Amino acid sequence: MRRSMRSLLVATAAAALVLPLCAVSAANATPPGFSSADKDALRNQAPSDLAIGSAVWGKQQLTDYDPAAPTEYQQVLGAQFSSLTPENDMKWDAIHPAPGVYDFASADALVAYAEANHQQVRGHTLLWHSQNPAWVTEAGAAWTCDQARDVLEDHIRTVVGHFKGRIYEWDVANEIFQDTWDNGGVRLRTEANPFLRACADDPVALLVDAFRWAHEADPDAVLFLNDYNAEGVNEKTDAYYELAERMLDAGAPLGGFGAQGHLSLLYGFDTSIQANFERFAALGLQVAVTEADVRIPLLEGETGPTPEQVAVQAERYDAMLEACLNVTACSSFTVWGFPDANSWVPDVFPGEGWATILEDDYSPKPAFDAMLRSLQDATPGVSPRRG
Ligand code: XIL
Repeated sequence: MRRSMRSLLVATAAAALVLPLCAVSAANATPPGFSSADKDALRNQAPSDLAIGSAVWGKQQLTDYDPAAPTEYQQVLGAQFSSLTPENDMKWDAIHPAPGVYDFASADALVAYAEANHQQVRGHTLLWHSQNPAWVTEAGAAWTCDQARDVLEDHIRTVVGHFKGRIYEWDVANEIFQDTWDNGGVRLRTEANPFLRACADDPVALLVDAFRWAHEADPDAVLFLNDYNAEGVNEKTDAYYELAERMLDAGAPLGGFGAQGHLSLLYGFDTSIQANFERFAALGLQVAVTEADVRIPLLEGETGPTPEQVAVQAERYDAMLEACLNVTACSSFTVWGFPDANSWVPDVFPGEGWATILEDDYSPKPAFDAMLRSLQDATPGVSPRRG
């Protein structure tokens, strides 16, 4: 029988209202209204040195936030997670819609919600080939490298500076390598990314400076490279490893490597995640799973997955989490939103779905239960945290 989270959440949310709000000092400081006796909350069961996050679209879910009357979604988000990633609110098209025009409204709402719920925020993202506003894609076609650098520097300093001290990890550069199957194989996206294109003569120099600008704007934020198909040891992560070495040699304040963790049951599972994380950790970097979801191909006429698919999904979520738990340098594990009704998967991968860890009524799937058990077994500060 499925457990419902509803009663637990309503009780804890009510208790939260009478406590004063204060800054979070640790990823998993017990949120108001919770005690260590609450065994059903991921954030409570996580070791204290690992943030457990979710993506959230602030514009859709948080701009109406009233601490006295949170929506059920907002209650679950606050109860379960110690970290939030803006699913869209800090992307260029949302936050910098026209030259010189910055719109922080929904990102500010997200950060305010996070702070009210004693959560940390992962910033996402400052340099990407996707979700750029028209003015960047159009004007960018004719940019010289100096022009592109000026635009990017202004953006990074303004956005990172706006949130200074309130973001613990920033995905500075997202998906900067193209895939093996694209023309030319794994190499920097000097065609699709307008900034890398303008500076294609020396894209690494641009990356080094992008990280420097971010670091100057917020010296406390840990600055990440982030990508998909970057979980295990493969051609793409080999390229990232080399890039990370080059950037560190050049003095870049690179602090972390993020594997997005968008998996599908259509493909095999790479068991080398821990080995991959360990090699980046050996460079002195933090690692993270930044956007985990496990999508399931749904048969025509079927409304849900088979029991076997459900079990495999749970194993894969848990395997990603365990890789993170087994590497002390893994600082955060983030799922890419919940419940399925909010997931990006059906829009982008037709025929696939059921990708998140919670049902649409917020009851836990086996994937959630598997993760909760792994977190309960883990010990903070010990490598591996699961002994
Ligand atoms: C996705 C969002 O979930 C969608 O709402 C949006 O329409 C497209 O982008 N890799 C990333 C994320 O780094 O920013 C993407 O998020 C998913 C893939």
